[in-house]
This record gives sequence, structure tokens and C-alpha cells, in this order.
Amino acid sequence: MDRFVVHPGGPLHGTVSAGGAKNSALKLMAACLLAPGRHVLAGVPRIVDVEIMAEVLQAIGAQVDRGPDGPDGGPGDLVIDTPTTLVPEAPYELVEKMRASVVVLGPLLARTGRASVSLPGGDDFGNRPIDIHLHGLSTLGAVFQTVHGNIEGRVPGGAEGRLVGQRVVFEYPSHTATDNVLMAAVLAKGTTVIENAAREPEVSDLADFLTHMGARIRGAGTSHIEVDGVDELHPSPRSHRVIPDRVVAATLLSAVAMAGGEIVIEDGRPDHMDMVLRKMGDLGVTVTQGPEGMRATSSDRLHSVDVATLPYPGVATDYKPFLVTMLSVADGVGIVTENLFSGRFRYVDELRRMGADIRTEGHHAVVRGVRRLSGAPVRAPDLRAGAALVLAGMMAEGETVVSDAQHIDRGYEDLAATLSSLGADVTRA
Ligand code: EPU
Repeated sequence: MDRFVVHPGGPLHGTVSAGGAKNSALKLMAACLLAPGRHVLAGVPRIVDVEIMAEVLQAIGAQVDRGPDGPDGGPGDLVIDTPTTLVPEAPYELVEKMRASVVVLGPLLARTGRASVSLPGGDDFGNRPIDIHLHGLSTLGAVFQTVHGNIEGRVPGGAEGRLVGQRVVFEYPSHTATDNVLMAAVLAKGTTVIENAAREPEVSDLADFLTHMGARIRGAGTSHIEVDGVDELHPSPRSHRVIPDRVVAATLLSAVAMAGGEIVIEDGRPDHMDMVLRKMGDLGVTVTQGPEGMRATSSDRLHSVDVATLPYPGVATDYKPFLVTMLSVADGVGIVTENLFSGRFRYVDELRRMGADIRTEGHHAVVRGVRRLSGAPVRAPDLRAGAALVLAGMMAEGETVVSDAQHIDRGYEDLAATLSSLGADVTRA
């Protein structure tokens, strides 16, 4: 098993890039299924989840190739060739590895009138159903049944069957359910209205891409999205660049918050990170935006704050492991409330092994800051928590070994190299 080996380090200095957003790239890749032809995506990160999504698309019949890396060392373009005829199935072996594979459901139903997708796996935090996806797609006319662990969907009317635009009201603004219904609606007959839609910047990125493919969408980025269905889409005439990853950016900001120093995230987008930046400011990190990018400085001990996760534009649940880790060494007591995923406090046991003083009660955590953590062997329970434990190691006396590094590879191109380039002592073993 791969591990991260971390020794205390800092202050951090230098310029880094957040890279393309995982949770945008995966949906843009699925959207390529909506039109036959050659699609080009720029800035798609070289991470394991992208490789899995590429395998999902290949199983469906698309060809996925990576062009040569850019002169800046950034990833080469991802070229996706979508055939006219698709195999409307996402196999268990792949969906089981990555929950986000479920976003092929909408495009497959829209393109072929059929879809068979295994029930999704992915990060194991709490109960993560897909009822909101199925409710939205059913409202547009799809019919579902569960057969041998697969969700089998079809659009009545045989091969000519088409989804029909309707008003879809989400009981909760689910991010990927919004993606799925949006991708289904662009080829539906008539107008679809999505109420209580997710407002994440990645949804807007998907809508921009779909618009360049010929879709008619209004209101993406708000909770009321309208889509006038069209008969067919075409590949975007120009390559589409994925928006920067706000969670990777927050990881880097948290690193400087913990270790001190001054860094610049050249592609940081503060307009996608309002609430987490406000919390960072309250903690004592100064973040400014200039022509060179997002500049973050931190020199003193952090001050505790209270945090509650909420759907965008609230503080995203993905930031929480970083905030808890910062609070574990901050001055004072912070109360953290998780409102999205029930099982997302499991890494707290690992932080406790490092000397953090954290008490959890249901979906609340009370974090009493200590001056210093103590290096220990710990396990990455999932992607973001794993990255947070690496950051904890940077503030801990002695050596911290974070095992199960494969979780971290799902969403970071090379976290050890990125942090080391800023002066941290983090290696991959
Ligand atoms: N939910 C339902 N039914 C559904 C869908 C969601 O009850 O049909 C519940 C979930 O169980 C959860 C809450 O709604 O309690 C939030 O789920 P949401 O659907 O918004 O999350 P998601 O779309 O599954 C995406 C990101 C997550 C990120 C969340 C919240 C992708 C691939 N994943 O998940 O990112 O935490 O939105 O912003 O876009 C990650 O990057 O590792 C990651 C987990």
C-alpha cells in the first residue's frame, strides 16, 4: 500500500496551481456522450477518478485519449470520440469504484432511451442514495427498476422514445442529481424546469459546456434552471477548459494556514470560494486576489471558529476535514456541524491518535485546539480526510505516515510533489 510520509515543515513559500476541478471534469466527460463526434477538454486533472470515468466511457463505446502534456507541465487535452451507437451500460466493476459514474445515467437515457447502471459506490461516508436522481429522471418520463444490483432505466416508446420536459422539484439541491437531470433535459422534448437545483460552480461549468454543444439553458448557477430541449447536440467547436478545483485550492490554503508562510495559487477562484474564504479569514489567514492569482499568508496561531456545512454557496462538506484539522491546532474551541453526509467524521479518530482534542456527538464535533500534534501512523479513510491528515502531519512533532494513499490519488494529481514544491517535507513511499 502506498503511503505519505510527513515531517514537520514550513513556512511554505511559492506558487502553485490548483488544476482542473475533479467534480467538473467527471461530468464534462459524461456530457460528451450526448453528441457523436470528437470532443476536446482542456485542464482535465491526471487523477484516478478521471481514469475510472475514462474506462466507463470506453465501456459505453467512446474512445478516450490524452494528448501530450502542455509546456507548463499541465495535463494534455482529453480527447473523447463518441460513436453514433452507444452501449448503454456502466459496468459494476467501475461504478463500484466511483460513485460519480452515476452521471452517465442522464446522458444514456437521453441518447439511447436506455441505461443500465450499477448502484453507485465511492466514498463510504454515510448513506448516499440516488433517489433524487431517479425522481428527477422519472419526472421526465424514464421508468426504472432494480435488477441484480443494477438500476435499469428506459424511456417508454422504444428506440424512438424521448424524454419529455417537465417541472422537476428537488427535495434537496443534490449536486450530481442536478448534473444528471440537466444532461437528460438538454435532449428532451420541450422545456424542463429544475427547482431547488444545486448552485455549485461545477454545475455552471457543465451548463457552459452543454451550451457550446448547442443546448439551450438558462439560470445555471441559480436554484432555478430552465432547459429548452433540442433534437440533437454537436461537439463544442472549441476545446473547453475545466474550471479550477476549489477543494484543491482550499487544501493548499489550509496547508499555509497550518504551516505558515505565503503562497500564490495562480488559478485560484475566490468567487467560487466565498464562504470558506470568510472562515479562513476568521481563522487568521489573509487571502487576497491579485494579477498573479490568489495570495494567502499566515504567520500566527489560528483562532477557533464555528463551522456548519451547507449546500453551495455554504461551506462545502469537502472543506470540513481541513477546517477540523486547522481547528485542532487553533487557539480556542470550535464547533463543527456536518449537515450533508452522516458518516463524515471518521477521520476524527485518526486525528485523535495524533493528539487532537475532538469530541463528536452525532453530526457535531467540538474541537479544542492544542498547541502541537504528535506524529503517528494513520489511515486515509477517504479522499479529503486523507489529504487533511497529510496536512496534520506537517504540524505534528516527529513522523506521520498516512496509509491508504490511493484514496488521496482519486482527487490530487501529486499532493506530495505539490506540497514539497512549497517547502513542506512530504514524500510518497
Ligand atoms: N442525497 C440523497 N439522495 C440523492 C442524492 C443525494 O439523499 O439522490 C443526499 C446525500 O446522501 C447527501 C446529500 O444529499 O447527504 C448531498 O449529496 P449531493 O448529491 O449534493 O452530493 P453528490 O452530488 O453525491 C458531490 C460531490 C462531492 C461533494 C458533494 C457536496 C461529485 C462527484 N461529488 O457529491 O464530492 O462532497 O457534491 O458538494 O461531484 C469528492 O469530491 O470527493 C466528493 C465527495
